[in-house]
Amino acid sequence: MSAHQAQANPASAASPARLLECRGLSVRFGGLMALNELDIDVGRGEVLGLIGPNGSGKTTFFNVVSGVYAASAGSIRLDGVDITRAQAQNLSAHGLARTFQRSRLCLPLSVFDNIALGAQGRLDSGLWHNLFRRKAFATEARTMAAEARELLHVFSPTLADKLFEPAISLGMIDRRRVEICRALVGRPKLVLLDEPSAGMTHDETDQLMDEILGVRRSLGDLTIIIVEHEMGLIERVTDRCVVLNYGKKICEGRFRDVAADPVVREAYLGQS
Ligand SMILES: Nc1ncnc2c1ncn2[C@@H]1O[C@H](COP(=O)(O)OP(=O)(O)OP(=O)(O)O)[C@@H](O)[C@H]1O
Ligand SMILES: [Mg+2]
Repeated sequence: MSAHQAQANPASAASPARLLECRGLSVRFGGLMALNELDIDVGRGEVLGLIGPNGSGKTTFFNVVSGVYAASAGSIRLDGVDITRAQAQNLSAHGLARTFQRSRLCLPLSVFDNIALGAQGRLDSGLWHNLFRRKAFATEARTMAAEARELLHVFSPTLADKLFEPAISLGMIDRRRVEICRALVGRPKLVLLDEPSAGMTHDETDQLMDEILGVRRSLGDLTIIIVEHEMGLIERVTDRCVVLNYGKKICEGRFRDVAADPVVREAYLGQS
């Protein structure tokens, strides 16, 4: 493996503890090893770029970390807790949130309702609350509405005014903002962004990433793993990159080093 020394950002240098530790992580689909004995660490407060050619295992990595797929082998620890066998619906309670490569907004629902779906780990809307603690539940829901409005305001003040409008009435960049707010409103420690630029123009992508970094600053030490094919964006926003090919890590380090690595260039040969 051709690997470079990772360049830590100031946040991770100040807080060297690893937030995510994956060891020997494998996912097998029949005869295909979509992930093959992957070791990946992410420092607290780090922005890690996960890149690689189509089909190299990037989304599979997100799916196994977020409990959508079961690991065939290996382990995943988030903030010291073993989440290897955790179910997707319980991961927000561990501090994990994600967006999806294809939009998962429920278009007839309002912006607020879509965002509320992301706060399930915090809002205890079980039977107990519904029967006996309706007042407490209403208070939590109001707090969350205020938080959602505040987050949307950081993204885009005009979007915050559309909190109760149906998502279907929004343009592409606003829909993407809502998806990211939905991931962030549960106050995750780690957020996984799968191709946030998909379907957007170059200018919209630039604008959205500025907004994500602005929100990240306002949320303290939020850690991000971003999967992207738009290399300009990866270069601009990441502290470090991991490159996958055929489910294996082939390189890691600063973007400019991995981009110059012959093994990475070979993997991307034939791709733009
Ligand atoms: N549910 C599944 N069943 C069978 N094979 C799958 C499944 N999910 C992914 N794969 C296969 O695993 C490999 C990795 O796919 P994955 O979606 O993780 O790639 P990717 O790096 O995200 O690609 P892209 O850049 O095109 O989004 C591919 O060969 C894909 O066909
Ligand atoms: Mg993918």
